[in-house]
Amino acid sequence: MSEEPVVRMGETSAGVTRPSVSPIYQTTAFDVPDLEILQQLYTGQLTGDIYTRDSNPGMRALAQSIADLEQTEAGAVFASGMGALGSIFLTLLSAGDHVLTAQSLYGKTLQLASRMQRFGISVSAFDVSSPDQLTAQLQPNTRFVLVETVANPLLEVADIPALVAAAGAVPLIVDSTFTTPELIRPCGLGAAAVIHSASKYLNGHGDVMLGVAAGSAQLMARLNETASVFGQNANPFECWLTQRGLRTLPLRMRQICSTAGRLAQFLATHPAVLKVHHPSLPQHPSHSLAGRMYPQGTGGIIAIELQTGGRTGIETVNQFMHSVPQLPFSPTLADARTTLSHPALTSHRFLSPEVRSAAGISDALLRISVGLEPLDVLVQEFDAGLKTLLK
Ligand SMILES: Cc1ncc(COP(=O)(O)O)c(C=O)c1O
Repeated sequence: MSEEPVVRMGETSAGVTRPSVSPIYQTTAFDVPDLEILQQLYTGQLTGDIYTRDSNPGMRALAQSIADLEQTEAGAVFASGMGALGSIFLTLLSAGDHVLTAQSLYGKTLQLASRMQRFGISVSAFDVSSPDQLTAQLQPNTRFVLVETVANPLLEVADIPALVAAAGAVPLIVDSTFTTPELIRPCGLGAAAVIHSASKYLNGHGDVMLGVAAGSAQLMARLNETASVFGQNANPFECWLTQRGLRTLPLRMRQICSTAGRLAQFLATHPAVLKVHHPSLPQHPSHSLAGRMYPQGTGGIIAIELQTGGRTGIETVNQFMHSVPQLPFSPTLADARTTLSHPALTSHRFLSPEVRSAAGISDALLRISVGLEPLDVLVQEFDAGLKTLLK
């Protein structure tokens, strides 16, 4: 019988076998055998973890998977996509610096950039379809340029090699959340770093909040340090779930791209739909660029402008959503299920109606995040819901 105090009980050992799936190291800290080893851990002579806010085996494993997928020297993990972006801003910018962003970024990313002004950082934005505009707006103190591979919600495609060339010596940072390393690897095209909201396709099951980055080992070490100091670190369970989600990323992206392309074609022929925004369609402004840069597709996002038929845009979208309860409204994307969102009242709600309408985002615009349901099921459900708008 053991005389151990209860707080010391419960240590496990896997014995002679190994778990088939890496365990979640749900621990705040790691016991270190002695001070010599502690020093060697801090100086990098030994590999190991000390404190989970800085690193943990599951975080390191996921960071390495992201680096392998993006084919970069190193990767890093954060509490969310915004944590990854926040860490980039806080690492690369100081008072007196300038940052240049695409005009059409995720709303919270634009908010993050504009908050930087409080700290003496100037921010300007350029039209991502014009590399010349990028070059014209560079300043001697521009520290980086930030773009998204495919912009939300109208799916304008960024020409990464042209933007890299236009930025010259200034690093281009690319948010590839919509496209994933299955469809494009921006660092291989000259970008200095890539980030993702792993809450989206990388995990792919709508049950995680996580961000990742990939790039040079030096930059990733700096980002990790910032994440630790500012508490933007990932946690072991989210990393474990995302690692599991990654295993099916190639299959999911293949299926989602195929379904999205065919659903877009169907929607483009529907009398209740005024306009379909999807780069696979010849009428989309990025069609030929997307064909060159994304031979496998641009992911699962489609935006459709509904025919209002005398109703307001909001009434039209509400009527459609009520008629298709199987297609939930969910203000995220890249769930395994197909979900709907409404850019005017979610991602772009902070813009004035005039600015929204100039950007092509009307109240009747619906964003679809295509999931893993069979195409014929989705066609039948969209058709039935859209037909209610024609009555
Ligand atoms: C393109 C893009 N980047 C970044 C983010 C932020 O990611 P997270 O929600 O994981 O903080 C999002 C979230 O929707 C996004 O769509």
